[in-house]
Amino acid sequence: MSDVRPESMARITTKELADEFIAQQIKEIREQVGDKKVLLALSGGVDSSVVAALLIKAIGKQLYCVHVNHGLLRKGEPEQVIKVFKEEMDANLIYVDAVDRFLDKLAGVSDPETKRKIIGKEFIDVFVEEARKLDGIAYLAQGTIYPDILESKDGIKAHHNVGGLPEDLNFELVEPVKLLYKDEVRVVGKALGLPEGMVERQPFPGPGLGVRCVGAITRDRLEAVRESDAILREEFAAAGLQGKVWQYFTVVPDFKSTGIRDGKRTFDWPVIIRAINTTDAIKVTVEEIPYSLLYKIRDRILTEVKGVNRVLYDITPKPVATIEYE
Ligand code: XMP
Repeated sequence: MSDVRPESMARITTKELADEFIAQQIKEIREQVGDKKVLLALSGGVDSSVVAALLIKAIGKQLYCVHVNHGLLRKGEPEQVIKVFKEEMDANLIYVDAVDRFLDKLAGVSDPETKRKIIGKEFIDVFVEEARKLDGIAYLAQGTIYPDILESKDGIKAHHNVGGLPEDLNFELVEPVKLLYKDEVRVVGKALGLPEGMVERQPFPGPGLGVRCVGAITRDRLEAVRESDAILREEFAAAGLQGKVWQYFTVVPDFKSTGIRDGKRTFDWPVIIRAINTTDAIKVTVEEIPYSLLYKIRDRILTEVKGVNRVLYDITPKPVATIEYE
């Protein structure tokens, strides 16, 4: 499959178009893969989950899903991946706890592109190790989508998915959704029968919370990102905003400011809330969140998250800002 979306390709907006796409992909995947084994990085996000479901449909247990816990996942995520794919879909799922390994490599690294590259490379290394434990892996499946390809071509940011494999491991890539936009991936996911909650899940970058723990990642600040993100998601769900707001998350920048708590001076981090709407992740507007909800989230963050003394709301569209901070 070429990396350029043909102009004649209709936008997948209906179940019928999705079914056509799925049938075509199943055929192509079977032709490409034959009886060989495929390794897939299953993060649990929409893209890799849809790719997993497509591959399970096409080749069943020839697919080996590897879920790498790199320590940059959202709260509760590794547990959910295991539940959905291992217990409910009966997939071959290998869980790798690589938390210390990733965080040790990232210690002291503040440059965003370097962080991305370290995470990407470490990912590949983990896969290579898993592949070497398995016999006869020939393919590496990936949840690359079209915006990834466009933006890495334009040099806006390094595309986390494509990394160099050692020459002795000639994995060929299987990227069945690489010409699709995000909204199309969701339509395909629904047509594949994936649970609504998974298909409608907001996008999550490959480098995970790493790009939201701005600058050099420390374990305590990373926990502040993870805990505040969990609170934000819980409160958005309680307010009925889940599935209505395209992407929402928190960011903890690498600076502190003065505050006061229980009559004593504090010097702590701010938590920045970002909540945006878009159809294609290219042009983005900011969601108008009611102040009452923002106040509720603020109060919970200030009470429950350690090391935080301010909560801010980012009102910047894309362009000028990107969605993520790094
Ligand atoms: P930006 O920050 O470029 O993000 O406006 C656009 C969308 O892409 C997601 N994103 C990523 N997804 N790997 C991914 O799989 C990445 O490295 C990455 N960077 C950003 C981001 O969350 C948003 O939905």
